[in-house]
Amino acid sequence: MRRTSVIGVGTLLSVLFVSAGHSADVANIPLLPKTPSVFVTRGPYLQMGSSTAVTLRWRTNQPTDSYVRSGTDLADLNDVAFDVSSTTEHEILVEGLSPDTKYYYSVGDATGSLAGGFDSYYFVTSPPTGAAKPTRIWALGDSGLAGASAEAVRDAFYDFNGGTHPDLWLMLGDNAYGIPGYGDGSQVAYQVAVFDRFPRTLRTSVLWPTIGNHEWVSSFEAIGPYFDMFTLPKNGEAGGEPSGFEGYYSFDYGNIHFICLDSNDGILMGASPDPLSEWGMIPWLESDLAATDQDWIIAFFHHPPYSKGGHDSDRERNLILMRENALPVLERGGVDLVLSGHSHSFERSVLIDGHYGKSSTLVSANILDSGNGNSLGDGEYRKYHGTYSHNGTVYAVCGSSSRLTEGSLDHPVMATSQLRMGSMVIDIDGDRLDARFLDIHGEVEDSFTILKRDVLSENSSWVRYE
Ligand SMILES: [Fe+2]
Repeated sequence: MRRTSVIGVGTLLSVLFVSAGHSADVANIPLLPKTPSVFVTRGPYLQMGSSTAVTLRWRTNQPTDSYVRSGTDLADLNDVAFDVSSTTEHEILVEGLSPDTKYYYSVGDATGSLAGGFDSYYFVTSPPTGAAKPTRIWALGDSGLAGASAEAVRDAFYDFNGGTHPDLWLMLGDNAYGIPGYGDGSQVAYQVAVFDRFPRTLRTSVLWPTIGNHEWVSSFEAIGPYFDMFTLPKNGEAGGEPSGFEGYYSFDYGNIHFICLDSNDGILMGASPDPLSEWGMIPWLESDLAATDQDWIIAFFHHPPYSKGGHDSDRERNLILMRENALPVLERGGVDLVLSGHSHSFERSVLIDGHYGKSSTLVSANILDSGNGNSLGDGEYRKYHGTYSHNGTVYAVCGSSSRLTEGSLDHPVMATSQLRMGSMVIDIDGDRLDARFLDIHGEVEDSFTILKRDVLSENSSWVRYE
């Protein structure tokens, strides 16, 4: 028997139970007898994509076995990956795939499909590592507030993106704020703010999250739901050096190396693993950067090293610690772009290097290009082709994807500081990076470009990072 797909029922149930203040998790809600009796209540969603594999996850209302049927021909999903153990939290690794290839899929159990098998259920594997391919990245920060604003930010991107999927997307932390009866970062909060809000993107684009303070609180108290919900590459499954811990990790997509860091207190201040210990985050970051020779390096973590929004990077510990500990390593490793959230505003720097103190200590030597980086304004930022130490980095704070918080918005490294809701769209094509801040109304309120077309002269003092 081939079961009928019933996407949306889980959404309805979660809303009903949330509004009633029920304390049970969605997965444990007792269901009235109905036909069909098994249906998907979360997902499917894509995790840990690489050029040869992807992990599909979904949740069902009742335990079943787990089957993914996939193929390049929608009419012939003849590749089957499965796990016969019975669970409501399904997680299937699909391997042996071809790079840069579109696969359609369905998820279900041994008897048939529960979701998918349509042309809107697909994934595209990553390009071969090192291969340049036009790539679109969507970045949301602090998108976790339930309500119309977050949906408008989402819809502005959907309109901008013309109905297709981004190649990958980042969530910069605080992805699900608490709602009445359910705590920050809880399963139900995530159901409302992530899984029910973005089903279309979750099933077609691999989501790479970083952990914010609103996830960290609940996660560390109870080995929490953040690490249960996400499957992240702690063993280098998608490129990069193994971190051994899902809180921070790296991966490759084409000619881009991505680094996710954990900027929360527990990691930075000595909880296991100690960031400065042999096995901690900063030593791992050093080894990871030394091992990559990708054209582009993008790092993302929740707490911004520079901000004068709702949070002040001159005064707050996590922000200072990231600036003092992570930035020297990142800049020595040649990072091009750093994305953060936490402050509920949009702030974006000029091309800078070596500024690790308070804002009052900024000197002209830290500013490598004081322009706005816009080809129609002051001109694009230019860097040497390849990865060179201290060749300039742009820092963006994009924590306004569902809410706004006022601040002085006057950090001196910033080219622009705006109390405006929206998300970031980053396009990389070969040696060119174009980044935009897309506001809640679909207007581009900031854009800058980094070009890597300059070649070193023989007597240059720049040092290639290897
Ligand atoms: Fe935060």
